[in-house]
Amino acid sequence: MNIGVAGLRFGMSWAQVFDAYDETDLIAICDLDGEKRDQAGELLGVESLYESFDEFVSDERIDAIALFTPAPLHAEQSIKAIKAGKHVLCAVPAVMDMEEARSLVEAASQSDRIYMMAENWVYEPAVVRAHELYGNGALGQIYYAEAEYYHGVEGLRRNPDGSPTWRNSLHALQYPTHGTSPYLHMTGDRFTEAMGFAASGRAEFTGGYETDWIQTAMFRTEKGGIFRLSNSFQNVREIGHFLSFHGDQGYFETGRFSEARTVCHYSQGGDKQTTREVCEHPDLSQFGESLGRGHGKTSIQIVLNFVASIQNGTQPSVDLMSALDMTLPGIAGVQSVRSGNWETVPDPRTWV
Ligand SMILES: NC(=O)c1ccc[n+]([C@@H]2O[C@H](COP(=O)([O-])OP(=O)(O)OC[C@H]3O[C@@H](n4cnc5c(N)ncnc54)[C@H](O)[C@@H]3O)[C@@H](O)[C@H]2O)c1
Repeated sequence: MNIGVAGLRFGMSWAQVFDAYDETDLIAICDLDGEKRDQAGELLGVESLYESFDEFVSDERIDAIALFTPAPLHAEQSIKAIKAGKHVLCAVPAVMDMEEARSLVEAASQSDRIYMMAENWVYEPAVVRAHELYGNGALGQIYYAEAEYYHGVEGLRRNPDGSPTWRNSLHALQYPTHGTSPYLHMTGDRFTEAMGFAASGRAEFTGGYETDWIQTAMFRTEKGGIFRLSNSFQNVREIGHFLSFHGDQGYFETGRFSEARTVCHYSQGGDKQTTREVCEHPDLSQFGESLGRGHGKTSIQIVLNFVASIQNGTQPSVDLMSALDMTLPGIAGVQSVRSGNWETVPDPRTWV
């Protein structure tokens, strides 16, 4: 299977996984930045280097495209790739607004190509453990859940010439999927309504940031529960995630900071006794130790799932509808911050 990767910052670690996997050949890369293109081409032994996405997407040898370009380009580039007959693995978030979501659903519904969103939190070991407990009935029915993602990205907000990058005006809730995906993937639930809130620190500490320091949304769920998502890209806190699931038979929460990925605390079956457990990634030693760094081994698992879906014609773990179920609540949350009202989270299945 011939792969092309676009966007060579975060995308580099994904390009390396495709390069190492014996089921895939990385044959083309694309980036506006010539230095990144040349360095990646040399490191990975790739000869087809594209500056223009349109030329890249027209390369008929490419079967599947992995998109790791800035988030505001995801919908437009996914649609171009699908229309060019490529399978698409797209970085999070899938889209930035409801219009983009509708256009993507329209393009995908006229195609038989696989679309998958590369959401690593579905594969983090602590989340996989929660999924097992939930599947065994140990947590019962979840009536309340929480997710937090706090990541001060000051260093990524300006280009070397001082102009703002897309991250300088990205609303924290427009990037909701690390928080929403574990619960939604585990339960099959869907968020139906969002109420958003926002707050910021003092102006002299803003550093030219163009949106709220923290955005929080409450979501109502189809199964009758509620969910709180808090996201921030401007803060003085160490980077970290946190998840908690309150079930009527058991309780689960992750560790804090970097331990959120691998450590969990849970009680099960109506017993209040808490167990602490350290969870492991599956054995992926055939890929060596250095691959998939930064996000553990989750990117390898995503690539394996994406390729298997294409080969077997099966649904990927995060297909388009799941990707939108994970992404659209954040967009509705931003709408609610502005309107002060509960906003409906659309069901993208009704657009087909
Ligand atoms: N954990 C995660 O899932 C995770 C982590 C980091 C980033 N991301 C996502 O991955 C994507 C990439 O993130 P990043 O931090 O590398 O972003 P970035 O903006 O730092 O880098 C994007 C790269 O794409 C290139 N690019 C820009 N416009 C392009 C175009 N039109 N055609 C081709 N290349 C173009 C840039 O030159 C740059 O090399 C983002 O959408 C982000 O949301 C996800």
